[in-house]
Amino acid sequence: MTDIGLSSQLTAPLSPDARIPLIGFGTWQLSGDEARQAVSWALEAGYRHLDTATGYGNEDQVGAALRDSGVPRDEVFVTTKLPPDHVGRERQTLQESLDKLGVDHLDLWLIHWPPNGTAGVESWKVFVEAQKEGLVRHIGVSNYSLDQIDELTSQTGVTPAVNQIKWSPVQFDRDLLEGSRERGVVVEGYSPFRAAKLDDPVLTGLADKYGKNVPQVIVRWHLQRGVVVIPKSAKRERIESNIDVFDFELSADELTAIDNLSEA
Ligand SMILES: NC(=O)c1ccc[n+]([C@@H]2O[C@H](COP(=O)([O-])OP(=O)(O)OC[C@H]3O[C@@H](n4cnc5c(N)ncnc54)[C@H](OP(=O)(O)O)[C@@H]3O)[C@@H](O)[C@H]2O)c1
Repeated sequence: MTDIGLSSQLTAPLSPDARIPLIGFGTWQLSGDEARQAVSWALEAGYRHLDTATGYGNEDQVGAALRDSGVPRDEVFVTTKLPPDHVGRERQTLQESLDKLGVDHLDLWLIHWPPNGTAGVESWKVFVEAQKEGLVRHIGVSNYSLDQIDELTSQTGVTPAVNQIKWSPVQFDRDLLEGSRERGVVVEGYSPFRAAKLDDPVLTGLADKYGKNVPQVIVRWHLQRGVVVIPKSAKRERIESNIDVFDFELSADELTAIDNLSEA
């Protein structure tokens, strides 16, 4: 069983007094009882960060699993996302998310995709207001370019705390990572396995060396690179295994070897 202390203590700073757990549980494509069951297993296994979205249609189940878990609300970092086609009804959508999740605030609310390919400045202004009112602790974006982030900053004076983007050894992009850090934006990776080449010999070699599996090597690489990782699984064994990453450490050279698998 994973050490729950370790998984919740590994965090990245979001603001001077708040942090985001580096490992979260992804819930895309989980619905109904399967979603509720998977989130329950994840909380039992030690995940303290849940990633959902209005568009996933499972906020009800995520909220139910959270409530039933007995884990105090303030120990779990909850993220949901505004779909681009809800532009203009941001506040209503936020209220629906809060109601379905059964919480009085979110830890992170993201614009899921740039609305119509724009930066979505008007939506962002609503996000800023919601944060001021305490309905959401942190606000961010997903699938944004650095230029789109800069536009939000220049138009509103508020920079997204997080950009959730596709990230795996294949997507590693040093310039994007450094550019995000310069702006104070935490990179949160999605599809860590789906987007990866799980049979790559560099990854299988490291998995063999450490007696771990390739997904565990990928999760570990994210943690050591300070990138948030949110693996999804519907299977208890995988949910537990994907967070069982605290008994080995990749060397600097091994991290670089994984970085170099990128096609960028
Ligand atoms: N912001 C966005 O636009 C966006 C887009 C995509 C995803 N996301 C978020 O990121 C999360 C993760 O991304 P994802 O769901 O696309 O993909 P993922 O977590 O990279 O991979 C999930 C897939 O890998 C399988 N899997 C999980 N653990 C495994 C293991 N140890 N060994 C082998 N296979 C394993 C899962 O199958 P089983 O379930 O059968 O185990 C599932 O098919 C999502 O759930 C969602 O929360 C956000």
